[in-house]
Amino acid sequence: MIKRIHHIAVAVPKLEEAARFYEEILGLHLAGVEVVEGMDTKVGFFSVGETNIELVEPTKQETGLARFLANRGPGIHHICLEVDDIEAELKKFKEKGARLIDETPRQGAHGMKVGFIHPKAAGGVLIELCELPK
Ligand code: CO
Repeated sequence: MIKRIHHIAVAVPKLEEAARFYEEILGLHLAGVEVVEGMDTKVGFFSVGETNIELVEPTKQETGLARFLANRGPGIHHICLEVDDIEAELKKFKEKGARLIDETPRQGAHGMKVGFIHPKAAGGVLIELCELPK
């Protein structure tokens, strides 16, 4: 079951620099800055009501995120949907014919389990699924 939009992610070349707009102009609070080793990213979250804005910076140059930035520049990178059981949801979406990037979940930020659906399956939008730690 999909519970909510957990975050909307914005790809940026430098997290701290990009965060200034969200902090100084919008008045949001940057929290949870973390280098996610398995994903080769550095992330930070701004809580916005029921959801979050995630800034995501690549920590390696040969990753999909780095290529996205090189080709398209900074901008919205993915939408993350929180689910109650990520293994079950990935399996269900695959059975329904969706092209997945991750058939089994990976370790994301803050102890979340995450997995991505291919943008070709979703109208050009990269969709992340996340399950929060219990
Ligand atoms: Co994300």
